[in-house]
Amino acid sequence: MAASPLKNTVFIKMKIFTDPKQIQQYVLAQRAAGKTIALIPTMGYLHRGHATLMEQARPTAEIVIVSIFVNPLQFGPREDLDIYPRDFEGDCRTCEQAGVDIIFSPRMSDIYPAGFQTEVSVAEITRGLCGAHRPGHFNGVTTVVAKLFNLTLPHKAFFGEKDYQQLATIRQMVNDLNFPIEIIGVPIVREADGLAMSSRNTYLSPSQRKAALSLSRGLFRAREAFKQGERQSSILQQTVRNTIQADADRSCQLEYLAVCDPETLVEIEQIEKVAVIALAARVGKTRLIDNILLP
Ligand code: PAF
Repeated sequence: MAASPLKNTVFIKMKIFTDPKQIQQYVLAQRAAGKTIALIPTMGYLHRGHATLMEQARPTAEIVIVSIFVNPLQFGPREDLDIYPRDFEGDCRTCEQAGVDIIFSPRMSDIYPAGFQTEVSVAEITRGLCGAHRPGHFNGVTTVVAKLFNLTLPHKAFFGEKDYQQLATIRQMVNDLNFPIEIIGVPIVREADGLAMSSRNTYLSPSQRKAALSLSRGLFRAREAFKQGERQSSILQQTVRNTIQADADRSCQLEYLAVCDPETLVEIEQIEKVAVIALAARVGKTRLIDNILLP
């Protein structure tokens, strides 16, 4: 990745760190001075969903850090690492407007120097859903998030619920490895027409974007059916499927659709109290995910 001219710039209030050792020393000193730190890990190309994470974090901590790092470890060989959208200057503006104190934007060689050989792997919870279709993805996520936690030493970290399995996996990791960090999940932010916000939405052509709306529409219809008393997963799934298949040009191809326990992500047949309906679909070459929590 080309070095951005903004790196090491000091905004009026916001600091930009690229060096892992420097940010670690800085946060150690801040913690020693009794400051609370919140982290929002991101891969950049920030949208309103990310801005919402920042808004939620701002009142909860004296120092809000946004990390921006497109993590190669979580992309498969045939995935979109090379074309993943980037806009460092726009991201800096979004962060500054949201009152962020620090951007941490490390170089790849600082995060994964030659000889790097450690991986953090969470077992059960990463097997199904996205994990079944993206081998190695969650190991990449947990490895980089563990590193970001160690480098920024936050008291709390904010993650979007759109990446529901990621959030559940990080909670599991934090629990299993005793990170003294509170993990806060923030509800999905949607466009006015229902599409869940994602940096990958930028790949969609106007007609694909229109077709992609059937995903959230299907989930909303299933939620309606749940509200009317339907508790059988197969029927709720069929509601989602029917909505997606009713779309005229059929350009959404479901990769998976599952009704799961929201904590363990184990699939359930009959909903007792709560559930998450999660899906992934391909729209053209773009892979989108979405979910809805019931009730
Ligand atoms: O959700 C993301 O943007 C990424 O998976 C994360 C958590 C920043 C790790 O690279």
